Parts: sequence; C-alpha cells; structure tokens
Amino acid sequence: MTKAFPHRTHTNVFIWVAAIICAIVSLAVIITGMVVFVGYMIIHPRVPFISVTSASLDNLRYDQAGLLEIQMLIVIRAENDNARAHASFSHTSFILSFEGEVLAKLVADPFDVRKNSSTDFNYVVSSSQIPLDPMQMEGVDTSLKRNEIAFDLRGNSRAMWRVGPFRSVKFWCRLECELRFHTSNRTYIKSRRCSSKSK
Ligand SMILES: *[C@@H]1O[C@H](CO)[C@@H](O)[C@H](O)[C@H]1NC(C)=O
Ligand SMILES: *[C@@H]1O[C@H](CO)[C@@H](O)[C@H](O)[C@H]1NC(C)=O
Repeated sequence: MTKAFPHRTHTNVFIWVAAIICAIVSLAVIITGMVVFVGYMIIHPRVPFISVTSASLDNLRYDQAGLLEIQMLIVIRAENDNARAHASFSHTSFILSFEGEVLAKLVADPFDVRKNSSTDFNYVVSSSQIPLDPMQMEGVDTSLKRNEIAFDLRGNSRAMWRVGPFRSVKFWCRLECELRFHTSNRTYIKSRRCSSKSK
C-alpha cells in the first residue's frame, strides 16, 4: 500500500525555499571564513608565551638533621611577539616544589602585554627551614654529590590576543619543567624546556 501526498506542489516549494536558504547560509559561511582567513593572514597572530628567563639560588643551606633552607630568585617572562595584537594574561599561577615538597606558589594578577613587547615578573622565594623526610634527604645528598639540584616548577597562565574589538580564544600557556642549579656555585642551568613555547 502506498500513500499519496495530496499537496505535492507545496512540498516542492518548501524544498526549493529550504535549498535557497541553505545556499545563502553556505555562502555566508564561506565569505565569513574568507574574511577571517584574510584577517588572520594580515595580522599573523602568534600565541603569547611564558618562560623562565633566569634564576639564581641565593641561599642553599642543608644540615644533617634534614632541615633545608633556600632562597631563590626566579624571573618569569610573558612575551607577546605580535606586531599588531595586544596580549592579555590571566589565571597566572605556578607551584615551586622540591622532592614533592611545595616551597612556594607564584601568582600574578591579570595583566596586559603590549604589541611586540614583554613583561618580567621577579619572584623571590624564601623558605624557612623545611624538614625533609629520609627519602628527600637522600635526594639532597645525591644532588650535592652530582653538583646539581633540581626544583620542579609547574603551572600555567591563560593568554589571548586582542586586535581592536576582536579577541582570540584563550590559550593555556603551560610550564612544567625543572629549575636546575649547580650546587657548588649556585648558578642556574638554562633550559629551553622552561617555556610554554617549546611544547
Ligand atoms: C619588535 O621588537 C624588536 C626588538 O625589541 C624590534 O627589533 C622589531 O623591529 C620590532 N618589530 C616591530 C614590528 O615593531
Ligand atoms: C659553576 O659550576 C659549573 C660546574 O662546576 C661550571 O660549569 C660553571 O661554569 C660555573 N659557573 C660559574 C658562573 O662559575
């Protein structure tokens, strides 16, 4: 048994209207896409990034009772290499730890970085005597023997770029690296991994 459509001509009109609307919408999507693409090529935005530019271990004291005392300066740079776009950073927060022991939380309020510019944050971490457990003490002993001590730095910042009224989506700039120092002269061992760009 087949069913007849009593208003076949009406169905045809609806299909035509739907097809025309569909074509208009497709055209609008294509044109919008082209405008965004051309704009993107002209502005050529680059994702802003953060990195550790330098650090120094100003004090490292450790006694046989297992008490660790450190003082450290960490310089974190937020960089915007865009010549035509401002960058905004927010939710900036990093955790510095040693052998799983949290030493400090480094934070920054939301901030802007102008076109083709950068902003440095100097963090001074000064710990009081941190009691270490036997495993952590072993870690320090090994570090001293190797003349190299490593601290973990983890965290992130959310960045986006702005051109006039336009805003990009927000990108996570993630830092997850080791800050390493020679224990003999306390100099920082530079690492390209301490940058959100290298990932
Ligand atoms: C960006 O800054 C660098 C150095 O700070 C400069 O050499 C370069 O010409 C600048 N580029 C633009 C497009 O302003
Ligand atoms: C610190 O010590 C390391 C290893 O002993 C050495 O390679 C480095 O050049 C020294 N740095 C300074 C500034 O003395």
